[in-house]
Amino acid sequence: MNFELILTIISLLIACLYFYFKNAFDYCKKIGVPTVPTSFLFGNIKSVVFRQQSISDKVAETYRLIKPSGYPITAVYFFVHPVFVPISLDLIKNIFLKDFHHFDDRGIFYDEDNDPVSAHLFSLYGDKWKTLRSKLTPAFTTGKIKFMFDLIQKNAKEMIDVLSEMTQINREVEIKDILARYTTDVIGNTAFGIECNSLRNPEAEFRVMGNRAFLQTKWDLIRNMIICASDKVAKVLRLSVFPKEVSKFFKKVLEETISYRENNNVMRKDFLQILIMLKNGQNLESNELNDQKITLNEALAQGFIFFLAGFETTSTSMGFAVFELALNEDIQEKARKEVFETLEKHNGEINYDFISELNYLDMVLAESMRKYPPAPAYCRKCTKDYQIPGTKTIIKKGMPLVIPTFALHRDPDYFPEPDVFNPERFNNTNKHNIKEFSYIPFGEGPRKCIGMKFATVQSKLALVVLLKSFKFKLSEKTKLPLKMETKGITLAPANGVWIEMERI
Ligand code: HEM
Repeated sequence: MNFELILTIISLLIACLYFYFKNAFDYCKKIGVPTVPTSFLFGNIKSVVFRQQSISDKVAETYRLIKPSGYPITAVYFFVHPVFVPISLDLIKNIFLKDFHHFDDRGIFYDEDNDPVSAHLFSLYGDKWKTLRSKLTPAFTTGKIKFMFDLIQKNAKEMIDVLSEMTQINREVEIKDILARYTTDVIGNTAFGIECNSLRNPEAEFRVMGNRAFLQTKWDLIRNMIICASDKVAKVLRLSVFPKEVSKFFKKVLEETISYRENNNVMRKDFLQILIMLKNGQNLESNELNDQKITLNEALAQGFIFFLAGFETTSTSMGFAVFELALNEDIQEKARKEVFETLEKHNGEINYDFISELNYLDMVLAESMRKYPPAPAYCRKCTKDYQIPGTKTIIKKGMPLVIPTFALHRDPDYFPEPDVFNPERFNNTNKHNIKEFSYIPFGEGPRKCIGMKFATVQSKLALVVLLKSFKFKLSEKTKLPLKMETKGITLAPANGVWIEMERI
């Protein structure tokens, strides 16, 4: 081959590549959607790939840059694939609620045949999701959570015992880790029927596997990129969203516990019992048999997702609340005063009703989840072509979307001085002025978080026992402003939250 021919082939290849990328990056322009400039190969996520920025940060940055244009939607290019980001609250309302039938999928890969625990409530869509959601909803009623209150309380007491022992040796503790151990024990206790003991033993397998699920190694990143690029390839290669060792571990624990309970007629007031009842076709309210059974694999998958959806989100949200309470001593004192006054009213007894009466603590938690939403950006997939009202833009079936929760919560148009921690935004007068769909830590509409009440009770209880037992202030080890983790999908402080605690 002569030199000229080689040069021509290379030039042709470069030209093809150029037009391929140009065509891909022109997609949004062609449908009228404004975006920020892209860079070759990476689209808009070069800084995410090199871990200088998290995905939700990138989404929020794009939201802020495009919002002044007044267009209701923008997009972030993940390499050559645009992912839409709705900006206007009306459009967000349509996606969640009014036109939900166009967006009832999250686009999360699952493979029922090769990885049965991947077919859980979070990943299913269409009729399968709808049927399962209606079967599981009764498991999260106030009545069922009241039933589990004693189990949660036992873990809360254990947390205080462990903290008391720790602070006798060193008053500085990394509170996010302690809270993650508490939520691991609570969800292990309620969804798996197991005493995981991670508060006493941080190396407990449950804790290790929980951490592994949220740790993104390079291989996890590559695997998830393949999954995002093609469901079909992922299925042939038998890939799974979570590392195999994680799903295998949780599946085995659940199978063993279900079998133990069934063989020994053991009954417990927890989520696992509810899943066993559903598996056996028992009505959750009347105990009568019906044909609304779920399979063993379906029961295993739900136990798995209750753990994964529940432990990291709840512990980070509490961690941020403690961080702000440590920083704002007046707010901490006010919250503690409410706890002691309500305790007096209840003769020192902590129960579900006591927790429900803590209005100011609700405000503190709500403000903490506004400033630091544990799920800062979450996804949806368009399941039917959708024309954005008032525009000519059509979102095609199959296109992904990301809801920019963090950006909305820090938007000064909705929350003036958004970086200031001010629970009064949620007092009885002000909370009615919050614009609909601008505050969405748990999502909205039919796919809203099913575990919201459970998470709230668990978080409030932890804060009650902490406020009752300790005074806390920020340790010098916590550097301000708090640096956030750039890996992973939840919002988390990069170096934990170090607190100095003093026993009351
Ligand atoms: C502070 C704690 C929590 C936060 C901030 C949170 C947040 C969320 C968000 C944002 C969604 C997606 C909503 C949407 O797409 O519209 C979601 C869904 C979900 N969450 Fe939570 N969550 C929390 C705790 C929990 C707990 C404790 C459980 C279970 C025990 C749980 C189970 C689920 C499940 C199963 C779904 C999928 C629901 C469906 O698609 O039907 N979450 N959560």
